[in-house]
Amino acid sequence: MARPSEYDRFADIYQVWTDTAASTPANLSFYVDAYVSEPGPVVELGVGDGRIAVAAAIRGRSVVGVDLSVAMLDQCRLRAQAAGVLDQLTLLNADFRDFQLDQPAALIALPYHSLGHLVALDDKRRAMAQVFSQLRPGGRFIFDDFLMTPLLIDHMRQVQLRAEYQLANGADALLWVTSLVDEASHSIKVVTWEDELDSQGALVQRRYRRLSLSWLEPSQARALLTDAGFVIESCFGDFAGTPFADASAHEQIWLARRPT
Ligand SMILES: C[S@@+](CC[C@H](N)C(=O)[O-])C[C@H]1O[C@@H](n2cnc3c(N)ncnc32)[C@H](O)[C@@H]1O
Repeated sequence: MARPSEYDRFADIYQVWTDTAASTPANLSFYVDAYVSEPGPVVELGVGDGRIAVAAAIRGRSVVGVDLSVAMLDQCRLRAQAAGVLDQLTLLNADFRDFQLDQPAALIALPYHSLGHLVALDDKRRAMAQVFSQLRPGGRFIFDDFLMTPLLIDHMRQVQLRAEYQLANGADALLWVTSLVDEASHSIKVVTWEDELDSQGALVQRRYRRLSLSWLEPSQARALLTDAGFVIESCFGDFAGTPFADASAHEQIWLARRPT
């Protein structure tokens, strides 16, 4: 039976969410390039609505997409169907911590801070061990995480108007976001609320959605990877592939290999 996921209630706004995020164009092209340059099999953990996987499929790469949320996988199927590449995707409803592939992967990617949805360090450790076990010898693991700074924490804590759009019923909607950030536990509760407005601009209904996230310090990410048996090839500080440096990095993007 499918496990419940916070994303089941987030799936209908996920495309607005990613279309209005500053970081998505860069992470999209980075991961698509990585997928198409591997001979395969390529696996995306937390495939979501197929934002990356479908773009890679359009460029000819078959992708196995793993996701806990049935609603996100439904969105992914719709996106792939609309792009005419559904036959290039294999979708698995499974958890990062115990997914099982039919054949060992050449590349497993976990994009867009998604490891952070496993808030407990032990769960992240389990996911890393599982990724390691599902890669073929010499196979690659790529994931990114927030690089948390006081500036980013301040930004996340602000209330922001994220998007203005129309709902399926034609009504105007505003999507707001803020986050509760707990520096001690490295955890983030993203809180969004979508206001549906009538033709006079009056509030008809407000709908809240929440996501649980967390982050690793770079030293923790390094330790988790090496403890799981990975050899670290590179760490980038942005999606242009700039080597990680504390003072200039915006992200932490880890490229690791299972030894042969
Ligand atoms: C931030 S979205 C990323 C989606 C897509 N990779 C992208 O970059 O747009 C995170 C995805 O991970 C999935 N997810 C969260 N926790 C998960 C878990 N424990 N196992 C499998 N999927 C999970 C969510 O359902 C969601 O689709």
